[in-house]
Amino acid sequence: MNLDDRDQQHPRRKSQFIKRMETTVSKPRAYVILLILVFILGYLSHSHPLLSQTASDVYEHNSFPNECAAPVPASDVRRTIISRVFNNTSPWESFPPTHARPLLWQEWNKGWGSQMPVFEHLIEQVRPRTIIEVGTFLGASATHMVGLTRKLGLDTQIVCIDDFRGWPGYYDEEKSLKMVNGDSLLLYQFMQNVVRANATESIIMLPFSAGTALGGLCDWGVYGDLVEVDAAHDFHSAWVDINNAFKVLKPGGVLFGHDYAWVGVRTAVHIFARVHGFQIRIDGEHWILY
Ligand SMILES: C[S@@+](CC[C@H](N)C(=O)[O-])C[C@H]1O[C@@H](n2cnc3c(N)ncnc32)[C@H](O)[C@@H]1O
Ligand SMILES: *[C@@H]1O[C@H](CO)[C@@H](O)[C@H](O)[C@H]1NC(C)=O
Ligand SMILES: *[C@@H]1O[C@H](CO)[C@@H](O)[C@H](O)[C@H]1NC(C)=O
Repeated sequence: MNLDDRDQQHPRRKSQFIKRMETTVSKPRAYVILLILVFILGYLSHSHPLLSQTASDVYEHNSFPNECAAPVPASDVRRTIISRVFNNTSPWESFPPTHARPLLWQEWNKGWGSQMPVFEHLIEQVRPRTIIEVGTFLGASATHMVGLTRKLGLDTQIVCIDDFRGWPGYYDEEKSLKMVNGDSLLLYQFMQNVVRANATESIIMLPFSAGTALGGLCDWGVYGDLVEVDAAHDFHSAWVDINNAFKVLKPGGVLFGHDYAWVGVRTAVHIFARVHGFQIRIDGEHWILY
């Protein structure tokens, strides 16, 4: 059947339908019935919620847990994490495992803006006992912060959150980490860098996604005097990370993060500041809420 046939068939069928209607009902009555049918169809489709409801009453995207557990003392933060996550055994014990030892660099501490003055400024200002870092990679900023806290004579634990996966395809390009059966060894290289920096007593990591790790800290009552956000930089990731990180910020603490220049990060920071009444201060490449 070609297109012309179809075009002709349609009106023919329609006229047969109307003719049949005309034999059973009078013309005005047929119009009334048609009108009622149209009305019913319209009503049915309108009352179908999935087709017509607006999204103005959907608030879930902006709802994050309100209350975290009562705070554990700063002196218990490390013990709490080793007990909750590592079955009471320090992950630094007998590191590195035999299979990984020959594959690790003695030190490979690449980072981005990891030693910028903002770290010194905020550590001097806040004198933190607990720092939470969301996005650690090889530990460049974390080990830098350990040096700063030691210089000030502070007894500080740094909780490093990272899934230690980096980015898909990153290792092909960089060729700096050696993959073992699909595992990039990023966690072990980070740990090796911490060992090299003599910082194992000051750093404990949560090798999980940012959301689950921050949820854990919230449930256990682990709060940071300083909380730094430097994980994924698209808007949605930054928005969720900043909201979850804020939950574990100690009252009077400071929330800050890297890469204000990224539009996703900047948008998330601006919306968050508006919602919570914060001012934004820029220090180098970093944003600070106060
Ligand atoms: C820019 S790097 C962090 C650099 C580090 N702060 C420094 O200055 O050396 C970002 C890190 O965030 C981690 N990351 C990204 N999205 C994550 C997520 N949803 N959960 C956990 N880690 C994530 C990546 O694995 C990567 O190591
Ligand atoms: C946790 O530690 C206990 C005692 O040290 C040990 O018996 C148990 O096997 C450990 N569990 C895991 C999952 O490693
Ligand atoms: C390593 O750090 C410890 C504190 O954890 C300190 O007592 C020691 O002097 C440091 N050693 C070196 C070689 O820096």
